Amino acid sequence: MVFFRSVSLLSKLRSRAVRQPNLSNSVRWLQIQTSSPDLDLRSQLKDLIPEQQDRLKKLKSEHGKVHLGNITVDMVLGGMRGMTGLLWETSLLDPDEGIRFRGLSIPECQKLLPSAKPSGEPMPEGLLWLLLTGKVPTKEQADSLTQELRSRATIPDHVFKTIEALPVAAHPMTQFATGVMALQVQSEFQKAYEKGIHKSKFWEPTYEDSLNLIAQLPTVASYVYRRIYKNGQTIPTDDSLDYGGNFAHMLGFDNPEMKELMRLYVTIHTDHEGGNVSAHTGHLVASALSDPYLSFAAALNGLAGPLHGLANQEVLLWIKSVVEECGENITKEHLKDYVWKTLNSGKVVPGFGHGVLRKTDPRYTCQREFALKHLPNDPLFQLVSKLYEVVPPILLELGKVKNPWPNVDAHSGVLLNHYGLTEARYYTVLFGVSRAIGICSQLIWDRALGLPLERPKSVTMEWLENYCKKAAA
Ligand SMILES: CC(C)(COP(=O)(O)OP(=O)(O)OC[C@H]1O[C@@H](n2cnc3c(N)ncnc32)[C@H](O)[C@@H]1OP(=O)(O)O)[C@@H](O)C(=O)NCCC(=O)NCCS
Repeated sequence: MVFFRSVSLLSKLRSRAVRQPNLSNSVRWLQIQTSSPDLDLRSQLKDLIPEQQDRLKKLKSEHGKVHLGNITVDMVLGGMRGMTGLLWETSLLDPDEGIRFRGLSIPECQKLLPSAKPSGEPMPEGLLWLLLTGKVPTKEQADSLTQELRSRATIPDHVFKTIEALPVAAHPMTQFATGVMALQVQSEFQKAYEKGIHKSKFWEPTYEDSLNLIAQLPTVASYVYRRIYKNGQTIPTDDSLDYGGNFAHMLGFDNPEMKELMRLYVTIHTDHEGGNVSAHTGHLVASALSDPYLSFAAALNGLAGPLHGLANQEVLLWIKSVVEECGENITKEHLKDYVWKTLNSGKVVPGFGHGVLRKTDPRYTCQREFALKHLPNDPLFQLVSKLYEVVPPILLELGKVKNPWPNVDAHSGVLLNHYGLTEARYYTVLFGVSRAIGICSQLIWDRALGLPLERPKSVTMEWLENYCKKAAA
């Protein structure tokens, strides 16, 4: 199955890097400056890179020996919690306040980023621009990026065949990650590296791969969805739509509210600083100079874990199991019993808790506001609201949970379910499409700043025991 997209002359001539075909197999990028550099993300980035390189150099030379804190045995045994060890430019997480994308909170992004409709939800293209440049784009710039992504979205046929080789019952994340690996054969970074590109230019093919990957993911993701749940009946792209709107359309949802939800969903799931499993995995793998496809496929495999991205699937399945057993109008008392039953069976309550956050996740709050605006009477939304009251006190009672409050995954499923995307096993794929925007943005900066191979020191229990004995003597 091939998705045919007509690339208009205008978009062909946009100010963007295009690969010149077959120049004795050498890879080159040709800048065609036909539109204003103001509208061209690559040109903007190119201007920003030298000043950020200087900033990093200065930081290293002037403050390289400054201590950032002590490492304790607890940190080593406790999944490196609280250990500052990564540079991640695109976003920063405050335990109480939540995520800021290049300094902007989620409500600020909702207010400032361009939207596809007046006073609507932010466009993911706008966030991509913000993450890469640190600047809020104009609507014109966001639209220009929509066009650019559109012109990069054609998928080689072998990608669909590769996915088809898997059983249709394979988990959607397995099919999605397989599709990403199949896309890897088009990597410009890999080709350029094989030809001996100078390291000062690494960011350029990384940018090409990243934008191609981000552009192509909605098609791969919707292909997986339609293959598994809609008898393989795929829906062609709608070139009049923006990134989020078109993604909802290709999945089979043309309700304008669902398109708005998709814009919001893709925007808020993009990035959550660098230490979470998917972002950290992508960054680690990329530090070996693996190209964006290899790095992002690795990240996806981390996202597929139930303590991370798969939690959104788990939440909806858990909520549905509550309804199945106790009905939609379950009382708070019965709900408490159900939560205890879950805990007593050695399971976590999905959608609650966080490795870093210590308050309600603002990504939860903005989805709650969306629900209050568009679907206040949805029974599952009302159940989610009851859980907000019932679960935190119980988790606190356990005495060990550091954050009893709901996270992003506690809410996303009921919204998608409301608009007809009921297949919970698929939800993490949506998360994956979004996460590419954050991981790839940082990856481009990893290359531009020349960040090194990541290689922390590990030790054995014996080493720790001996170290502690010596320290106590
Ligand atoms: C996200 C999560 C993995 C963070 O783990 P963490 O940083 O180790 O969290 P804490 O330090 O608070 O964990 C301390 C203890 O509380 C438990 N805990 C934390 N959140 C819990 C929850 N929602 N339900 C039950 N127990 C929980 C942990 O499993 C751990 O128990 P242990 O000492 O017996 O192993 C954890 O909160 C969790 O499993 N949540 C449910 C899954 C989820 O929603 N994931 C999506 C995150 S965005």
